[in-house]
This record gives sequence, C-alpha cells and structure tokens, in this order.
Amino acid sequence: MSPGTVESTVAGSDSAAVPLPPAETAISIGRRTLATRYFLAPLAGYTHLAFRRAIRACGGVGLATTDLVQAAHLVSGTRWARQLVATHPEDDPLSVQIYGGMTAQLVKAAQWLEAHGYAAIDINMGCPMAKITGQGGGARLMCDTDGACRLVGAVVQAVSIPVTVKMRLGWDRDQISAPALAREFEQLGVAAITIHGRTRAQGFRGTVDLEGIRAVVESVQSIPVIGNGDVRTVADAWRMRAVTGCAAIAIGRGALIDPWIFRRLELAQATAGVAEAPVFQPSPAEQVEFLSRHFQYMVDQHGEFQSCRMYRKFAAWFGATLGIPEDLEDRLRRFESIAEFEQIVVAVRERQGTRLDPRATWEIKVPNGPVEYW
Ligand SMILES: Cc1cc2nc3c(=O)[nH]c(=O)nc-3n(C[C@H](O)[C@H](O)[C@H](O)COP(=O)(O)O)c2cc1C
Repeated sequence: MSPGTVESTVAGSDSAAVPLPPAETAISIGRRTLATRYFLAPLAGYTHLAFRRAIRACGGVGLATTDLVQAAHLVSGTRWARQLVATHPEDDPLSVQIYGGMTAQLVKAAQWLEAHGYAAIDINMGCPMAKITGQGGGARLMCDTDGACRLVGAVVQAVSIPVTVKMRLGWDRDQISAPALAREFEQLGVAAITIHGRTRAQGFRGTVDLEGIRAVVESVQSIPVIGNGDVRTVADAWRMRAVTGCAAIAIGRGALIDPWIFRRLELAQATAGVAEAPVFQPSPAEQVEFLSRHFQYMVDQHGEFQSCRMYRKFAAWFGATLGIPEDLEDRLRRFESIAEFEQIVVAVRERQGTRLDPRATWEIKVPNGPVEYW
C-alpha cells in the first residue's frame, strides 16, 4: 500500500453491517461549529497536549478535551495543572475539563480559563475514582441534583464561553440520574452533554448501555448529546448513533488503539451510501511517523527525562496498531533516553509488521478490587 492511500478492504472495516447515518449538517456547541461529530474523550495521563497534537494530525478529530484538571490547582497555579491546560495553535478546537466539589473553586477556574483565552469548559461529573469523588467531585455530583444544578448554574453564569458537562448514567443501577440532570442542565444554559453509558458502580466493567444513553438524548430539547463508551470501530460508532440518536460521539480508548479512528469515521461519513466505500488505512511509514511525532511533542513540553517515563505506558496501546514487534514494544516500555527511543524507531522501521500477535490491547489498568475502593 502506498503512503496515505485509501483502501477498499481493511481489517476492522466492519461498517457495512450497520446503516450509515444520513448526510448531516455541521454540529455546533455554543457558538463553535465543529468540523466533525467525532471527538476525543479525555483520558487522564494520556490525552495531554502531545497526544492531542499527534492525533489531530491524523485527521478527523472534531473536538478534543484536556485531561481533568483540579479547579483549585488551576487557580492556585500548580505546575502540573498549568501543564495540563497547556495548548498550541494546532490544538484546536479544545475544551478544558475541570473538576471539584466546591462551586466557588469551579467558578474561579472557569473565569481564569476564559480570561486566558480558552474557548470552552467541560465539567467532570463522571470520574469514579475515590480521590475525586471523595472531595464531592466527579460522579459524586450526580447524587445531589440540587447541588449539581447550583454548581453548574453558577459556572454557566460566571463565563460567556460554552460550558458542557460529562457524566455517567448515574451512581449505580438504582440511581440513574443522568436524564433528569441533563434536562435541568439544558435549562441552566449548558451547551452540550457527554454521556458515558455506564454507572459509577460499573467502573469500566460490562458493556456500555446504549438504551441508557438514548434516555439522556430523549430528555433534552435541543442541545447536542455526545454518546461515549466502547467505540472502537466505524461500525461501533454507527451503531451508537443509530440506537441512541446522539448528535456526536466521544472516543477515548478506541483512539489509543487506533489513532486513525477519527479519519476513518470522517471518510466513512463522507462516502456514506457509496458502494465499496473506501476505508482509510495508514501506511507503515505513517504509523512510525505517528510514533515519533507523539514522542517529539512530549519532549518539547516535558523534556527528556519526564517524557521517557510518560511515553512508556503508551507502548501497550499502540504496539499492535502500529505493527510493532513484541520485543520492541517491550523496549518501548523501558527506554531511558531520546537516543534509545530513536534506535527503537529505526528497528521498528526495519521490522514493522513482523509482530506475532496482531490483536490490539483494550484492557486498561484500573485499581484493584471493587470500584468502592478505587
Ligand atoms: C485511563 C483513563 C482516564 C480517564 N480520564 C478521564 C478524565 O480525565 N475525564 C473524564 O471525563 N473521563 C475520563 N475517563 C473516561 C473516558 O473519557 C471515557 O468516558 C471512558 O473511557 C469510556 O469511553 P471509551 O470506551 O471510548 O474509552 C478516563 C478513562 C480512562 C480509561
């Protein structure tokens, strides 16, 4: 295959089984019009600036959101919080995700973001981790409708840029609060809702509940609802849109195992209805280029020592998709310097495609034990 070509048959091109959505108008969130309806979901520790720049260059990303940032840390200016909101002209359109249980801190963080030129704010109401929910933030906010509405309403009132909310279906199966919250948030002026179709109690177990997402779509009048969870292929995306009626889709882990998922979706959308519709398949050279570009952006921001450590955990995700042989993936988990990274890249170029197990890893590391102890 020549670089950047479009192939008509590709492994994982399973879109034929599911009807494609009809031709659509562009989607707007607040005053912003977005080029595609396929967004990068935040994955703390992964979707920072380097990854966002690298994946945007692959094409098709309609919107990206930063990793969650603690509102109080953003306002007090901790180094890490400021690094998390670092951006670049190529990193656009962008939304910054903030979290916290204290309204005053979220309001201050939102005002700080607007004053520093950021274009949109997302409030995290879905994180299941105890260190976030223990402070009243993340999914904990979903347990108190009045409190959540006061907090969200105050943030919306405090800024003129669009405010969106990302949440789960509810705390657990017995407390499915997302549809009622979405309805209230729309009245308060929230510009869009992203809904991960699991409860907090589920963590990342089981499969995403498309009917649950649909209930949220049906609960709002006109704001876009963005469906999220378990989308790995074009067919998964079509299925989610067909079953739920969601206006857009946010993809997290699927983007780590396939950085070209957005490009594939954009192309599939553009050629909907065309028999033998083409499917984008990156060339081996583009795959290696992605690997290098991502690391280079990381070094630009964080320097050599920190970047080597930060990059290692990507190896397991990318390995299969980029055709990296197992022993080189293993070296990527341990490398210590830019020079060593470059040696690995040379070896990947020479031996790309000789991997024995082509299956991509979808498992994520989550804390041990039931979600109550996360
Ligand atoms: C490692 C990891 C980190 C995450 N960090 C965030 C985060 O910072 N903010 C957030 O709203 N969701 C976060 N999520 C949830 C994802 O955005 C998404 O809702 C979830 O992974 C389901 O979507 P997916 O199947 O497309 O990954 C995280 C998930 C994972 C696995």
